[in-house]
Amino acid sequence: MTALKIPQHVAIIMDGNGRWAEQHGLPRIEGHRKGTQAVEHILKAAEDFGVKNITLFAFSVENWNRPKLEVAALMQLLDSFLKEQEEQLVKRGMRLRVLGRTSELPTSTQKLLRKTEQATQAFDKLTVGLALNYGSRTEVVDAVKAITRDTQEGRLDLNELDYDVFRQYLYTKEMPDPDLIIRTSGECRLSNFLLLQSAYSEIYLSDVLWPDFDQAEFGAALKAYASRERRFGKTAQQLTS
Ligand code: FPP
Repeated sequence: MTALKIPQHVAIIMDGNGRWAEQHGLPRIEGHRKGTQAVEHILKAAEDFGVKNITLFAFSVENWNRPKLEVAALMQLLDSFLKEQEEQLVKRGMRLRVLGRTSELPTSTQKLLRKTEQATQAFDKLTVGLALNYGSRTEVVDAVKAITRDTQEGRLDLNELDYDVFRQYLYTKEMPDPDLIIRTSGECRLSNFLLLQSAYSEIYLSDVLWPDFDQAEFGAALKAYASRERRFGKTAQQLTS
């Protein structure tokens, strides 16, 4: 059996927690709770398949518009997840990176994120990007502000600005672009997620709701990815010659 071509970076839009809860006659937050367990299973799957980077879209800049109680419950779930996972991440050599406008998150969450990032910064077996208060448009605005500041203060020469320099100003600067983007729950859109970084990503849509997305579903996504021909703007003939 030939080995699967494994993506270096898989990014996931974890969708369908609310519908899962509704289907089980439970409050929405129970869907998010079950979704947190799915996160743990998928981290294990990524580790087992040898994926080096995984990014999880956990909270978007638009998610603040949800009912206050749901937002508060999501933040609490995140705090518990971080407290519980720090030791596991260290033990398994995984590094946590947060992607997003973290200064707008609750202080307790910010502290936990900083602590976990620091505790795991030396590891490289699997880099886990947690997209929190993330939106591609705010990411670009933040990058442009930082570029303007660096230009005005003499740290950057605008003549040197190309995309390789620009990407150093994105939240994802320490990660390669995603090779594969997975969205669960049958929805078919990117929802302001990694819009620049996904320029050449393969996209895999699964009908499974996020709380039910398991190792086998992740494996199916990797198998589909392995069968795709990535051309990056070239012709198929150029790729084989
Ligand atoms: C989308 O489902 C999911 C979210 C907005 C939150 C994702 C959060 C988790 C998976 C749990 C916490 C994360 C971590 C990393 C611990 P939805 O609520 O929009 O579902 P619906 O479309 O069915 O209503």
